[in-house]
Amino acid sequence: MTSTPLSADAMKRAAAETALSHVTHGMRLGLGTGSTAAHFVDLLGARVREGLEVIGVPTSERTRLQAEALGIKLSTLDETPELDLTVDGADEFDSSLRLIKGGGGALLREKIVAAASTRMFVIADATKEVETLGAFPLPVEIDRFGARSTRIHIERVARGLGLLGPITQRMRAPDEPYLTDGGHYILDCAFSAIDAPQELAERLQAIPGVVDHGLFIGLATAIFIAGSNGVRIIGDNTGDGLI
Ligand code: A5P
Repeated sequence: MTSTPLSADAMKRAAAETALSHVTHGMRLGLGTGSTAAHFVDLLGARVREGLEVIGVPTSERTRLQAEALGIKLSTLDETPELDLTVDGADEFDSSLRLIKGGGGALLREKIVAAASTRMFVIADATKEVETLGAFPLPVEIDRFGARSTRIHIERVARGLGLLGPITQRMRAPDEPYLTDGGHYILDCAFSAIDAPQELAERLQAIPGVVDHGLFIGLATAIFIAGSNGVRIIGDNTGDGLI
């Protein structure tokens, strides 16, 4: 018997459902941003209506509005600075649990929330898995002050690592730059293949004017990868070192 291939959306929901099965009563949760994370928030809302008690810290205004509408109790990192688990999507990931995030523009808050969490579960469909990060353009969030100088600095760092792909400012409209929730610009860096992500991350972070970048290294503890044959987990989804 042949099985019907699942749509990308159905795979995203399956990954979200599996991650949700690890959420327990009383957890302090980081709520990610993007279409996959939106499935998780939606399913979480249904569990909350059935009586599950959790507190969520959203990683964007978008997610805050969605979670609020679903009746999920929300907090901030000021009130709840330490979280048990963040569940979020990714634009790309590799087998070392390194990620590119920020396609939805929420990378700064996503990284702060993930770093405040004991565990980070990434939920994704199998198309996001890559051998080498970089096919998805790396978002770099920069301050508006001195943006042109910061961009030149980023280009120099990239060239120094042999990354020659074009760097484009993200726009909301032809003459209106995209602004993040924090009021910053985003540069999308189409590097194609990032052979030394750790080095690039360190060099980008050292540039004055770079607020943050979409390389998430050492943050994800498990990745839930949904394909047509079900959900595969890489990493440690238990938090006690067992897989
Ligand atoms: C938001 O800024 C991003 O980091 C998202 O988590 C990422 O773009 C994945 O989004 P999708 O789940 O919509 O692919």
